[in-house]
Amino acid sequence: MVRGKFITFEGCDGCGKSTQLRLLSKYLTENSIPHIFTREPGGGKISEAIREILLNGKNMEMTDECEALLYAASRVQHLSDRVEPALSEGKLVICDRYVDSSLAYQAYARGLGLDFVSKINAFALKNYRPDVTIFIDLTPEDAFKRKHGADENDRLEKAGMEFHKRVYDGYKAVAAAEPDRVMCVDGMQTPDEIFADVVKILQKKGCL
Ligand code: TYD
Repeated sequence: MVRGKFITFEGCDGCGKSTQLRLLSKYLTENSIPHIFTREPGGGKISEAIREILLNGKNMEMTDECEALLYAASRVQHLSDRVEPALSEGKLVICDRYVDSSLAYQAYARGLGLDFVSKINAFALKNYRPDVTIFIDLTPEDAFKRKHGADENDRLEKAGMEFHKRVYDGYKAVAAAEPDRVMCVDGMQTPDEIFADVVKILQKKGCL
């Protein structure tokens, strides 16, 4: 059995990733391509429990280090539960976020640094590197304008904006460091145009 390909989707909050995943799901089903969709953090019983801890607004006192380790813990469990079995069955694995999220959010935006975050993830990844990563390139400012428009001056959103800008810069740095794996798609295009680019990339990389 030929191993399946491992495809990850990345981008800032509000970049339109969910729409693309929906379109891809429809495409793969219509073309009878064996696949699974999964997400991080989560995608299995234990990983979903870790997701609950990570995203629970009551856990505000969580340290940045704890956060990074929990994302990595969720990752290693999710690999065993969902990714490994599907790849060995020859299926395409489509994962909504993966290690690049940890590099952008924890290493760059939280400021933990690439060294620490890469080290814990080297342990968590067990050599499961994505074959292709689609980065939907939309700045947080543009994502925010699309979502809220008039609320641009909201104080809390502004405070959050600095963090999201660092996430974006982190993604750009990751993409620049691995241009053969991380494929950037212009997120300012219409959803259909973005999807056409996604399909082209996946065909070129031999995933479809
Ligand atoms: P989610 O609601 O799934 O957001 P989205 O639909 O944008 O993917 O929440 C996941 C959040 O977790 C998102 O803000 C990014 C963050 N995250 C990290 O900070 N580090 C990571 O390693 C991963 C996988 C996600």
